[in-house]
Amino acid sequence: MQGQPESAVLEDYKMLIDGQWVASATGACFESDNPYTGRPWALIPRGGEADVDRAVHAAHRAFTTGEWPRLTASQRGSLLRNLADLLSDHAAHLAEIEVRDNGKLLAEMGAQLNYLPQWYYYYGGLADKIEGSVIPIDKPGHFNYTRHEPLGVVGAIVPWNSPLLLTAWKLAPALAAGNTVVLKPSEYTSASLLEFMKVFEQAGFPPGVVNVVTGFGAEAGAPLVAHPRVAKIAFTGSEKTGQMIYETAARGLKRVGLELGGKSPNIVFDDADMDNAVKGAISGIFAATGQTCIAGSRLLVQRTVHDEFVDRLVAFAQTARMGDPMRRDTQVGPVTNKPQYQKVLDYIGIAKQEGAETRLGGGKAERPECGDGWFVEPTVFTGVRNAMRIAQEEVFGPVLAVIPFDDEDEAVAIGNDVVYGLAAGVWTRDIRRAITMAERLQAGTVWVNTYRAVSYMSPFGGYKRSGLGRENGQDAIKDYMQTKSVWISTATEVPNPFVMR
Ligand code: NAI
Ligand code: MG
Repeated sequence: MQGQPESAVLEDYKMLIDGQWVASATGACFESDNPYTGRPWALIPRGGEADVDRAVHAAHRAFTTGEWPRLTASQRGSLLRNLADLLSDHAAHLAEIEVRDNGKLLAEMGAQLNYLPQWYYYYGGLADKIEGSVIPIDKPGHFNYTRHEPLGVVGAIVPWNSPLLLTAWKLAPALAAGNTVVLKPSEYTSASLLEFMKVFEQAGFPPGVVNVVTGFGAEAGAPLVAHPRVAKIAFTGSEKTGQMIYETAARGLKRVGLELGGKSPNIVFDDADMDNAVKGAISGIFAATGQTCIAGSRLLVQRTVHDEFVDRLVAFAQTARMGDPMRRDTQVGPVTNKPQYQKVLDYIGIAKQEGAETRLGGGKAERPECGDGWFVEPTVFTGVRNAMRIAQEEVFGPVLAVIPFDDEDEAVAIGNDVVYGLAAGVWTRDIRRAITMAERLQAGTVWVNTYRAVSYMSPFGGYKRSGLGRENGQDAIKDYMQTKSVWISTATEVPNPFVMR
């Protein structure tokens, strides 16, 4: 219990297992907070091992029997397109729920939800274009071909920063491939996924094809990862949890897809268009209140333009309007949950102790328009050395570490000198430099003169400790499939097995 609820009656959610809206097996639930008010607004079922077991069995039944395994790939694609159409109709409602539970800006959620259906259209379209091959096999009298088949039950575990988007990245290819799914949303932001499932239900998928178990990581997430009937875990979240999932999955010889965040360098050269680079640096760290895995949280600026660039950046960042995320003109919203709010403030303290210089912000936002919400001032630290914790560890908040460099070699050395490798930005007008930097930076995504661009069509994922596997794009569907090789004899007679040839 965390203080007075927002209204007399909390919104009471159920989860979806085997086509039924149910409470948890124990009847327990937990509160979900609105980060703008800092108060609870909804009750979410506190699922545990028994609920996970029911959901996985439902998903396994739906995979092996009934209508789903009999559908053609084209029919699966058509269901995904139905879902996409329905999502377009419900975008506004889903956006409002997310703003309330997560504190994301309505302006950002509106755009995100208008884009979201594309994942379901794209993978819906791809469903019937996955073709095996006929191998010109070297053995006479044999015909050999391959089939791409689904894995079975996929467990998808998503974090709180972009719940519906990161669900789509997993759900769309998993279903297009013919799998069934058990989803486990973050305990901080379960409501939007439960509302999404109300829309999903209307699309015409058979019961049990997608199930949702809400609850905490250790109680609902861990049993899903360990469940023997789960073939693959698709996860986005922290490095620590990703590691634990990988270890458990290894014991069950399960596949994993892991997307684990980063400490991405956003690199500004002195030949860049400075106005654009300032905007790119700002959106890299302050969009979504810095709570994105791709945040450009290390800003590397060439020494020749460093001071001028920082002045312009700070001047621009100072204009950010904070406050109610439901207002269309708000530009920086609250941090999504209380532990994260504390974590961001702790890192600000660490940076100061390490000797970084506070150029902007540097603490809680105590502005009247921020009320009792979990707001942190957009913060810029200069004088950062790459060895400092503020440059090495993921803060996941509106905190920028600015690091000077002299030349390309040094930019590459600093840029790559972290354990992560999710993304990198390069700002330059020099085409040679752009191509060389894109080659030398160890990151799953490199942006040149842009930042944060992501599409259902383009592979996304991490180098190094940022993760395993790629989401989005055509190849991602193969991560939800396995290949079967089929041999057929065309010989009229099976040869004598005791005669070696
Ligand atoms: P987390 O990684 O613990 O949570 C992500 C999801 O995993 C949630 O659904 C959670 O319930 C589940 N989970 C937690 N423990 C589990 C377990 N033992 N087995 C299975 N599932 C489990 O992340 P958390 O605690 O919400 O945030 C902590 C930090 O993680 C943030 O400060 C940020 O640095 C990072 N993060 C990175 C994200 C990314 O997009 N890569 C997203 C969210 C957080
Ligand atoms: Mg919440």
